[in-house]
Amino acid sequence: MSDFKIGILGFGTVGSGVFNVLKENNSEIHAKTGINFKITSILDLDQEKVTAITNDPSLLASNVDEVIKKSDVVVELIGGTGIAYEFAKKAIESGKYLVTANKALIALHGSELFELAKQNNTSILFEASVAGGIPIIKALREGLVSNKIEWVAGILNGTTNYILSEMKNNGLSFETALSQAQQLGYAEADPTFDIEGIDAAHKITIIASIAFGIPLDFKKVHIEGITNLQLKDVTYAEELGFRIKLIGLAKKTNNEIEIRVHPTLIPESRLVANVDGPMNAVLVMANMLGPTLYYGAGAGSDPTASAVVTDVVDLARSINHGSKTFHIPSNGFETSNSKGVSFKAIENISTGYYLRANFLDSAGVLAKITNLFAEKNISIDAMHQKMLKKDQKENDVIIVVNNALEKDINEIVDKIQLMESNIGSVVKLRLEEMAK
Ligand code: HSE
Repeated sequence: MSDFKIGILGFGTVGSGVFNVLKENNSEIHAKTGINFKITSILDLDQEKVTAITNDPSLLASNVDEVIKKSDVVVELIGGTGIAYEFAKKAIESGKYLVTANKALIALHGSELFELAKQNNTSILFEASVAGGIPIIKALREGLVSNKIEWVAGILNGTTNYILSEMKNNGLSFETALSQAQQLGYAEADPTFDIEGIDAAHKITIIASIAFGIPLDFKKVHIEGITNLQLKDVTYAEELGFRIKLIGLAKKTNNEIEIRVHPTLIPESRLVANVDGPMNAVLVMANMLGPTLYYGAGAGSDPTASAVVTDVVDLARSINHGSKTFHIPSNGFETSNSKGVSFKAIENISTGYYLRANFLDSAGVLAKITNLFAEKNISIDAMHQKMLKKDQKENDVIIVVNNALEKDINEIVDKIQLMESNIGSVVKLRLEEMAK
């Protein structure tokens, strides 16, 4: 093979990044592969933008069929599951290879598209769909192939990490930090996907499939975003030695899998707790290697395009060595690894918890609360209450436990909520040690 032809669908932030990466690193990539990578066709509604960036009007396509016809690989960078899904199917059905950065597409339609690719003797690569430029899929699928993955936990959404960092470092409210993130261009077109944890849930769905060899199933993820998080709890967590991060976690214990996204307290001494701003970080616990941490830009033009172009290069190298399809299966498993596997309902997980309640000052409140934990045989690790100021009538009480069953904690929360002197909504946050 001398030339590998690339068709691009969608020339926004990532699309123009792909053009830039191939322009800047052309000779470097050629020296490494011996292959010429050539963009042959680009489809985007904003044709002026395409010409302004590429300076080559001959690259403009007027429809998807033209892109498919002129390319070996179709690179889908439109996003979402509408037209992107239709175009992806069309490219695969035409027998073309597909590279995508579209996490929603893979998380929601991946299983169907992988099967379609198999039937059409082609392949789909999707490294850029998780954690932008960080090669986490390659790490899980190839770098850690000799290991059994025990769990993966990561900061998978830059927007929410930026918001949480601003709340902690500058005392901003959630709303102000969100509008700053939007101004800086970190947020998705619909920021609900970021702040409600949906974007991170798409990504952890993909990670779980590759880590454990299970089908992609977005419905299995328990999702809580950061919209209800109060600055107060960010500050209290800090005082207790924790950072709050929106964590996507996939864990396999015996044959039970839990997949969840929620704001999480992490001990401040962990590296991942110190990942600030819009950066991503993924911590993988592998049974032989132990923990490894993958850190870098989870979004942005050139960083995401770096992962897209790497997929294109990987694919071309595989084909150049005589393979018709990419030499590694989509989720890294040749045979299904789902036999006997079940999914844990959120009520049945065991983890650490942070609870905060607001009480009118009266005798016996703490005794009643601690008794609720004693009844469930749950050991309290930390309890926090500040000295009442003069004339202050109510106070926050914070309790931290290292390990408890969610069901038991829910019962305790309900009972605290009903206590006569309780005057607010009890806050419950989960806590992860992020270590073996
Ligand atoms: N909105 C996403 C984020 C972009 O904030 O991380 C990358 O998927």
